[in-house]
Amino acid sequence: MSNPALQYVNSRIHPEKLKQFCIEALQAAGLSSDHAEQTADVLVTTDAWGTFSHGSRQLVPLLNNLRKGGLKADAQPEIVDQGSGFVVVDGHFAMPMVTSRLAMQAAIDKARSAGIAYAAVRRSGHYGAAGYYAVMAAEQDMIGLSMTNVDVCMTVPGARAPVIGTNPLAYAVPAGTERTVFLDIATSVVAISKVIAAKTAGKPIPEGWLVDELGRPTTDTSTYPDKGAILPMAGHKGYGVALLIEILAGVLTGASFLSGIKPWLVPDPQPADEGHAFVAVNIESLIPIDTFKARMDAMIGEVRSAPKAEGSDRIYLPGEMEWERFDLAHKNGIQLPDYVLINLFSVAEQTGLTDRLIAMLEEE
Ligand SMILES: NC(=O)c1ccc[n+]([C@@H]2O[C@H](COP(=O)([O-])OP(=O)(O)OC[C@H]3O[C@@H](n4cnc5c(N)ncnc54)[C@H](O)[C@@H]3O)[C@@H](O)[C@H]2O)c1
Repeated sequence: MSNPALQYVNSRIHPEKLKQFCIEALQAAGLSSDHAEQTADVLVTTDAWGTFSHGSRQLVPLLNNLRKGGLKADAQPEIVDQGSGFVVVDGHFAMPMVTSRLAMQAAIDKARSAGIAYAAVRRSGHYGAAGYYAVMAAEQDMIGLSMTNVDVCMTVPGARAPVIGTNPLAYAVPAGTERTVFLDIATSVVAISKVIAAKTAGKPIPEGWLVDELGRPTTDTSTYPDKGAILPMAGHKGYGVALLIEILAGVLTGASFLSGIKPWLVPDPQPADEGHAFVAVNIESLIPIDTFKARMDAMIGEVRSAPKAEGSDRIYLPGEMEWERFDLAHKNGIQLPDYVLINLFSVAEQTGLTDRLIAMLEEE
C-alpha cells in the first residue's frame, strides 16, 4: 500500500502552519518553546526558499539525535570567550540552530563597534542550511558569512576515500531596492542527496560526481555510500575552499575536524562536535549604508542586463530564485515534495501529531 503521506502531494501548507507543526514536534521531543521556535524558524525558512533537502524533513534525524543523545534537549549554548571582534561559543550539544543563531547574533553585535567580527562555535552538530545565518546579518545591514564542517564524505584530488566533509559556505549581502544577494552551497559537486535520489530511482549519474573505492571516476551508484566518495566542486578549487572552511569552523574553533567528527545520520548518533564559523562585516563602518546599497543595486543591474546566452532569457543573482519561491510560499503556501511529506508523517506518528498534521494540510 502506498504511503498515506502521498495523498497530500498536491496540498499546500502555509509556512506559519508548518512552523507551528515543527514547534509542536520539537516540544514533544523535549525542547523548550523558545528553542523549538528558533529551530522551526530555521527549518521552515529553508523550506520556503525551496531548499527542501535541509528544511523540515530534517526533523527525523534531529529527533533521533535528541532521543539517542547526539543532541541534548535541555542544553544551552554559552559564550565562553570573547574579545572586541570575536566570540567563542560552546554549543554544549544544544540544538545547533539555536547555537548558530546565538553565535551569528553575537558576531553582528560585536561588529557594530569592531567593524568586523567572527564567531567560533564548537561542540555543536548539524546546523541545516548555511544561508539562514548569513541572511540574519544582511537583515541587520551587514555582510554575513556562514560555514560549518561536516563529517567526512568527500574525497580530494589524489585520494581514493572520503577525506573531508561537504562543508557548506554561505554569504549574504543587503541591497537597496533589490533583494539580499545570497549564495548557499555545499563544496561538493552536488549535494549527496542528489546521488542518493538517482540511486533510489535506479538512474545513472553524470560523470564527475563520484569516484569508486579505488578513486576511479564512476557513474555507478550501486555500492554508494558504503563504497566510493563524492567529489569536490570544481576539483582542486572546491577542495581548497572546503579546507578553508575546515580550518575556520573546525581547527580554529576547537571543534573536532575531519575524521574526528561523528556522523549524525546514523541510527545511534553520538554528539557530532561539528564546528561553525560566522563572520559579520558592519558595512556602515566602511561606507554609508545607503551608498553601499545603491552601489549594490547598480552592480546587480549590470549583471542582470548582460547579454543573454542563446536559449536564455534571464540571468539570476544568487538567492534570487530562493526569494521568488519564498514570496510564493508566503502567498500561496508551500507544496511539499513527497519525501518531505513522508518524513513529516513519520515525525507526526512519533510525536502523536498525525491528526494535527492532516488537519493543517487539509485546511489550506
Ligand atoms: N549543514 C550541512 O551539513 C550541509 C552540508 C552540505 C550542504 N548543506 C546545505 O545544502 C543546501 C544545498 O546546497 P547545494 O550545494 O546543493 O546548493 P545548490 O547547488 O542548489 O546551489 C544553491 C545556491 O546557488 C544559487 N544558484 C543556483 N542557480 C543559480 C543561477 N543560475 N544563478 C545564480 N545563482 C544560482 C542559489 O541562489 C543558491 O544560493 C545549502 O543550503 C547548504 O547550506 C548543508
